[in-house]
Amino acid sequence: MLPTSISSNSNKVLQTRKVDATPYASALIEGHRDFGYNLETALADIIDNSISANASEVKLVAETTSETPWLAIIDDGCGMTEHDLVEAMRLGAKNPTSMRTPRDLGRFGLGMKSASFSQCRCLTVMTRHRDALACAQWNLDRIARENDWTLELIDDPDPLGRSYLLASSGTVVFWDNLDRMMGGHADDPVKRTATLNSELSRAERHLRLVFHRFLEGNNPRLKLFLNGRRLTPIDPMAKDSTSGQWDPPDEIVLEQGVVKVRCRTLPHHKMVSKEQWNELGGPEGHLKSQGLYVYREDRLIIAGSWLGLAKQTELTKLCRISVDIPNTMDADWKIDVKKASAQLPPVVRERLKKVIERFVGTSKRTYQRRGQKLVDETRLPVWNRVLKDGHVIFRPNLEHPVFQTFSAQLPEELHIDFQRCLRLIGSSLPIETLHAELVGNAEAVVADAADKADLELLVRAIGEALTAGGASPESLSEIMQSHQLLRDNWAAAEPIIKEFIREIS
Ligand SMILES: Nc1ncnc2c1ncn2[C@@H]1O[C@H](COP(=O)(O)OP(=O)(O)OP(=O)(O)O)[C@@H](O)[C@H]1O
Ligand SMILES: [Mg+2]
Repeated sequence: MLPTSISSNSNKVLQTRKVDATPYASALIEGHRDFGYNLETALADIIDNSISANASEVKLVAETTSETPWLAIIDDGCGMTEHDLVEAMRLGAKNPTSMRTPRDLGRFGLGMKSASFSQCRCLTVMTRHRDALACAQWNLDRIARENDWTLELIDDPDPLGRSYLLASSGTVVFWDNLDRMMGGHADDPVKRTATLNSELSRAERHLRLVFHRFLEGNNPRLKLFLNGRRLTPIDPMAKDSTSGQWDPPDEIVLEQGVVKVRCRTLPHHKMVSKEQWNELGGPEGHLKSQGLYVYREDRLIIAGSWLGLAKQTELTKLCRISVDIPNTMDADWKIDVKKASAQLPPVVRERLKKVIERFVGTSKRTYQRRGQKLVDETRLPVWNRVLKDGHVIFRPNLEHPVFQTFSAQLPEELHIDFQRCLRLIGSSLPIETLHAELVGNAEAVVADAADKADLELLVRAIGEALTAGGASPESLSEIMQSHQLLRDNWAAAEPIIKEFIREIS
């Protein structure tokens, strides 16, 4: 126990005693394994450091088939002196309250250690700065045994037999003893390799998304490789596509910096390739990928969520808003160690709420109007959209010429039964199932195919009714295009319509 000392607070002089309460290294460092990282967020945190060190290339090399799998993150950045390396290996290397240079992606002085320990038990960093080599290692098994904070510096120029990976200037972060990445299959070589590979392929998508702005363009700021394969960016705003819509940019000017906001309506799924559509939606699909995309210094930290400001709905699933913040606002945004979450400061929240309401509201109205218009403007539709007691009802159109013509051929006593059959189809429309399907995967829900004879029946019935109503033969083709079924099957329908017009002309 240290000698008694005196301290004071605002109005009282207190007698205090001081005792050593240095954290236990073994316990604290094990606790650092559970900050909530997974492989993808851990790799992103290490790559952040490479970007901050001005690297132009980062290579991920994963040895997944050996008895002792390992992973290396290699950059060609500025590297570190031995003194810098010792500081870098320190937990809490930098104070989160200190100013960072613009474009520095770090904040806490923890990322490299906590991200690494979340995946492995042995972290070795080799670095070269102006021809001087330095290497240091934290091995959790040793710390568990010795329970102290001494860091191991390694003078051997090739301690792991992999120094060939180190560039003439730059840093390699080695992860060995990947206990967390093997999903409990350490003793089963086949499952172990399969687990490691599937974890890596999930992480790949995350990295392509999170760093997309760095990877884009003919002369990208960063080239990223996974086992020798160059990774291409995934741009959640689909900038490359000329379809969709951009709203004018907006800015929220605050004391600590400027927040840049841009609303983007993604292209309709018919306007992009299936591959691009799936890539944009990601594994969770478009419904879950709508919302805010928050970038800190061009690095994506939140990918698709309305952060409590709106609901994720089917009608707004093409809505995405990019929000750019500088690192000077970290404290206000409560950026977490993993750089995977943030909270909106109250003033930004209020402003964004208005932007979202306007954007999302417009999108919903456009969709609703379009759906309604398509039904309402169809001449002689098969289905009618009816408003009844505040509800929207879809009813088979009993007056439709196809039904009328057929009914006329039935004996009188069957007319009522036939109408009943049609009404039954309307009242048993599987609304709930349709709703569930549309919300989950709207693009996969399509109308049943119509064959040539079905189309002929429809064209003939509508054509005769329209002609009887005074429509000219020249106008028929255009009027028939308002029919969804004919429009969707236009290649097959057009010759039938032409043939009908020829017959009546
Ligand atoms: N690849 C690298 N090249 C050069 N210096 C690096 C590299 N990785 C880490 N460093 C140095 O080590 C320091 C500590 O890194 P670490 O990731 O632990 O914390 P940070 O980046 O400062 O903050 P955060 O906890 O937010 O990631 C960095 O600030 C940087 O100075
Ligand atoms: Mg960092």
